[in-house]
Amino acid sequence: MVPSSSSALERFLVHLEALFSISINDIRDMISRFHEDMQNGLADKDSSLKMLPSFVDVTTGREQGKFMALDLGGSNLRVLLVTLNGKGATEVSAVSKFAVPEQYMQGSGTALFDFIAECIHAFALEHHVDPRKPRNLALTFSFPVNQTAVKAGTLIVWTKGFTATGVAGKDIVRLLEEALKRRQLYGIHVAALTNDTVGTLMNRRYSDPSCDLGVIMGTGTNACYREVCGRIHKLKSPAPHDHMIINMEWGNFDKLYQTGYDQNLDALSVNPGAMFLEKMVSGMYLGEMVRIVLMDLIQSDLLFLDTPDVSSLFEKSGGVSTAHMSEIQSDQAPHLDKVDTFLKKSFGVGSRVQDRRALQRICQMVSTRAARLGAGAMAAVITWMDPQLIHPHTIAVDGSLYEKYTGFAVTIADTLKALYGEKADALSLVQTQDGSGVGAAIVAAVAASSRRQA
Ligand code: GLC
Repeated sequence: MVPSSSSALERFLVHLEALFSISINDIRDMISRFHEDMQNGLADKDSSLKMLPSFVDVTTGREQGKFMALDLGGSNLRVLLVTLNGKGATEVSAVSKFAVPEQYMQGSGTALFDFIAECIHAFALEHHVDPRKPRNLALTFSFPVNQTAVKAGTLIVWTKGFTATGVAGKDIVRLLEEALKRRQLYGIHVAALTNDTVGTLMNRRYSDPSCDLGVIMGTGTNACYREVCGRIHKLKSPAPHDHMIINMEWGNFDKLYQTGYDQNLDALSVNPGAMFLEKMVSGMYLGEMVRIVLMDLIQSDLLFLDTPDVSSLFEKSGGVSTAHMSEIQSDQAPHLDKVDTFLKKSFGVGSRVQDRRALQRICQMVSTRAARLGAGAMAAVITWMDPQLIHPHTIAVDGSLYEKYTGFAVTIADTLKALYGEKADALSLVQTQDGSGVGAAIVAAVAASSRRQA
């Protein structure tokens, strides 16, 4: 006979699976709400989708040049030297990576920008780049920025755990240029300001003319796509071209059913009340969601019954990462030995096989929901551009979640297939790395060539 605690556990898990499941009808509903918010965002009306103009159209693949690129969007900062040869090929000749200490992510804006200038200086020393010689810098700044030109834009609000003061509402390019001057890096000029999604789209588009959607699924999640300027009603002055890339900031989409667990996670975050989709989909939050669900099961006396005061061990945020979840999900051993080791090492908890299985199922439901919502968001943008799915579309995707998480990319592809049937063959999802380095350089080159044409 099954002991009553395990049937209660099973009932709870089945209830959770229903709570986290996203049906194809839910996705269809999501798509129509996405379209409403896209429409409103493009018209500057109230909307959870900011739909931010980038002031560039896609690359022709023929732009050339040498650029320095700077990539800030998470806990690492990179500086690169990129060459574009004008035939769809690119080369990175130097790259340095720096960890951004929390004191700068969450301190004063001036300290953050001084740190960035210091990294550029260290890069120049390491790679024998003369910082006094004129050099164009492509800046990828992967946060919501209200751009007014290709190299001007103000930060709307920080995301992904950044809170540095005195930056929201300020022009990012000016803040960086002032810091470069303070560090006496007089030769470096910002030639373009861009989002990582835009860089990702551009990077793929440089050699693939059917790419019209760039997606990030990593620490954060977001997308950009190619829009007809006539539909961007909020543009103040006539656009210089027929099309423009729009940074959607889809992580902030909020027309979704939130469980009590989502509300808890939101309340515990540094930016409560914002970035609802990002908190359900992206790598920064999935592990935390698993921990919050686990806590509920523990407090209901359904897990780790042999460990006294077990809930205190799981109380602290951050104990479960997305990388752990992926490992847990990939464990196929009959007794889930990897899961056992994880629980012992990270939480000092001994477990029964049924505890481990429950944890594996929680990871599965949280990550499957994330992938299905991610697919829903992609589908919304594709059908906005091409309602009947007549044209081929390459979707350039970057980010550790998409690249590394067990089964994530497969669930996205399966969901698109379930939505569109055979028509899904028009869509190719292509993993595209380094939009924030190479892609940003392409943005700067496109901007330079449209200035020349003007
Ligand atoms: C966050 C940022 C967005 C960025 C995304 C992926 O959602 O707000 O600008 O593109 O993370 O890095």
